[in-house]
Amino acid sequence: MTKPSVGVLGTGSYLPEKVLTNFDLEKMVDTNDEWIVTRTGIRERRIAADEIASSDMAYEASIKAMERAGITADDLDLIIVATVTPDMFFPSTACILQDRLGAHSAAAYDLSAACSGFLYGVTTATQFIQNGFYKHVLVVGVESLSKIVDWEDRNTCVLFGDGAGAVVVGPTEEGYGFLSFELGADGSGGSLLCQPGGGSRHPMSPENMDNRLQYIKMNGNEVFKFAVRVMEQVSDAVIEKAGLNKEEVSLLVPHQANLRIIDAARKRLKLPEDRVVVNLDKYGNMSSASIPVALDEAVREKRVKKGDILVFVGFGGGLTWGGSAMRWNLD
Ligand code: UT7
Repeated sequence: MTKPSVGVLGTGSYLPEKVLTNFDLEKMVDTNDEWIVTRTGIRERRIAADEIASSDMAYEASIKAMERAGITADDLDLIIVATVTPDMFFPSTACILQDRLGAHSAAAYDLSAACSGFLYGVTTATQFIQNGFYKHVLVVGVESLSKIVDWEDRNTCVLFGDGAGAVVVGPTEEGYGFLSFELGADGSGGSLLCQPGGGSRHPMSPENMDNRLQYIKMNGNEVFKFAVRVMEQVSDAVIEKAGLNKEEVSLLVPHQANLRIIDAARKRLKLPEDRVVVNLDKYGNMSSASIPVALDEAVREKRVKKGDILVFVGFGGGLTWGGSAMRWNLD
């Protein structure tokens, strides 16, 4: 029996107003615009106000995605929030969002797969819909990374930004929507990119905070090598699983961590620059929010039309990776 087709019914995003440029960072740590642009492609990033938490940004993105999907909160069966910066450990940010949206009949949970979180979420949502368990799933990628970045560590603080992207996933016409998925993990690389403090291993304590364990730690070089490898492998895999050729790819929507990593994936697919969505120059790396924000912008800029083949590919802490190929199902 062929599985029912599942696609994206609406997209939305939210970015905080405050812009932090590379020139602003020059005044905070020993860095410069030239280094950041040539090594990463990032020029500026958005920073959430002190009083704004991840659920606030998730709410704004979700409202837009639901409006564009033409559904109300009552139509939602499940809310998945992919984030490494929840409002708090529990209740989940998904439950906080469920209440705020008034989605009383929706189940809700957070998903932790770092920068791959959105693709893990969309893959999970699709399974629920294909097996008939649910009809409409809201998948949100949201991060307030500015709250866990060490603003004294130039190796990491120049890279990250805040924002939220959301999609409503639901049934679509046959032959359209998600065609293939790829998910993976290598827990042996967990220490390469992590936030060691605040959990049960190194609970919040004055001593652990003095050791700055509450902040992101990263081995940039090792993550870079891993990222280039998986971006290439995952894009090849999802294209093959979908029964497509590289030549058929209309648009690559990659995780936005580093322009050099994106370029490696683009060259592998032999795509010209205008067939890759890049927004890290404006927003930096927003972890799980990067891909849904990039998708929402591409949709609103009319870079995507019905029938186009989109390839999503991402990687992140865990280590984790994910990808998907889809035939775009919206007009
Ligand atoms: O979503 C997943 C998250 N993470 C990633 O995707 C990160 C992947 N890695 C990367 O993007 C790159 O490795 C970085 C952008 C983090 C670093 O670029 P790189 O070309 O690998 O530089 P590097 O780490 O090898 O550092 C080169 C030099 C070092 O100085 P020395 O030791 O050669 O004197 C660094 O201390 O650049 C120095 N450096 C900086 N200089 C100015 C590191 N950060 C900065 C900075 N400004 N912000």
